Amino acid sequence: MNDAPTSQPANPPADPAGGPAHGPDGGPTGAATRRGPLREGERVQLTDPRGRLHTITLTAGKEFHTHRGRFRHDELIGRPDGTTITNSAGVEYLVLRPLLADFVLSMPRGAAVVYPKDAGQVVQMADVFPGATVIEAGVGSGALTMSLLRAVGDAGRVHSFERRADFADIARGNVETFFGGSHPAWRLTVGDLVESLPASGLDSAAGTGADRAVLDMLAPWECLDAVADAMAPGGVLICYVATATQLSRVAEAARASGRWTEPEAWESMVRGWHLEGLAVRPQHRMVGHTGFLITTRRLADGVTPPLRKRRPAPGAYSEDTGADTGAGPDALSDGEGYGERPVSDRKARKAAREAAAGATASHEATHGATPADVSTTGEDPADVGTAGAPDEG
Ligand SMILES: C[S@@+](CC[C@H](N)C(=O)[O-])C[C@H]1O[C@@H](n2cnc3c(N)ncnc32)[C@H](O)[C@@H]1O
Repeated sequence: MNDAPTSQPANPPADPAGGPAHGPDGGPTGAATRRGPLREGERVQLTDPRGRLHTITLTAGKEFHTHRGRFRHDELIGRPDGTTITNSAGVEYLVLRPLLADFVLSMPRGAAVVYPKDAGQVVQMADVFPGATVIEAGVGSGALTMSLLRAVGDAGRVHSFERRADFADIARGNVETFFGGSHPAWRLTVGDLVESLPASGLDSAAGTGADRAVLDMLAPWECLDAVADAMAPGGVLICYVATATQLSRVAEAARASGRWTEPEAWESMVRGWHLEGLAVRPQHRMVGHTGFLITTRRLADGVTPPLRKRRPAPGAYSEDTGADTGAGPDALSDGEGYGERPVSDRKARKAAREAAAGATASHEATHGATPADVSTTGEDPADVGTAGAPDEG
């Protein structure tokens, strides 16, 4: 493990007094690469007439070619963003600088990236502000890192921890490609978060705690104590997890530690819309699941979390839930473990009678006859329907 910063900032470190910090051109880091004419070395996105995307890095002397013609990169260098180019076969491409959301979906990746819709939620719901000090682990491919760096700005600090050196290299390359060089707010440590965090200088007890923490990893519950030690009171922790069992474990671990406020969890779904003339409707395809987000805030030391007003659902903490013990998914096999209200036999019988009555009424309305045993025999509904239907012809 190497817990010394492995990504040294190229630009002067952020002014501890809170004064303005600037990129090499005097503006905020990365801003210059987002505007102006297209430059050599920049990535640009080409959209062909069928809407297919190609991402290229503009290189003097190089050609972009497909089986349907070619053009020289030099024809684009110096042209404005948002231009078009026609290749040797007459195919026209729209040329645009990728947005951050485009960039993260087309950049090289090792681990899965946080999707732009979730990165937006992280920045907003964890209240990542300009100048904030943020802990991030793991870094993976660096997608979320870029959103965090943008949100904290040059005067902030993102302390990122990644235990896989190969992934850290991918992330470093992506971040530097996107910002056009290293970012002054970024400290990248190769190492396990729990082992490396104490050496970071972020220390709640010493008054140098971080403002925010973002965990995107398999087992965030293992890091809660280390993060609490490194976080200022009132600081926001947000975890991004892929499964409901992870969500449960992190929530129960936060509650059990007594150092965090009552956690809140949610997911977001984004559905694109097809826009064409009067055919304006949701798109048929969407990304159905990415992950869940859960937030909680660091309590001041010595403060006992206030008692919850709501009582937990009966059975939510039955012995076999394993929710607060870290037991695996098998322990969550009954509905009560998931907080479902238990259904009494009486209530179930009543519901069954109502359902049967509804089926009878529906059948009479449709077929004009009552199936004698629709609710009592347990026959295949298809057979019941046939028996009660008027004879054909
Ligand atoms: C899903 S990836 C993170 C993706 C990243 N947020 C992005 O948007 O590109 C999870 C990463 O966490 C790292 N990881 C898991 N546990 C860790 C720990 N305790 N300390 C540091 N890194 C860890 C893994 O090596 C992996 O690269």
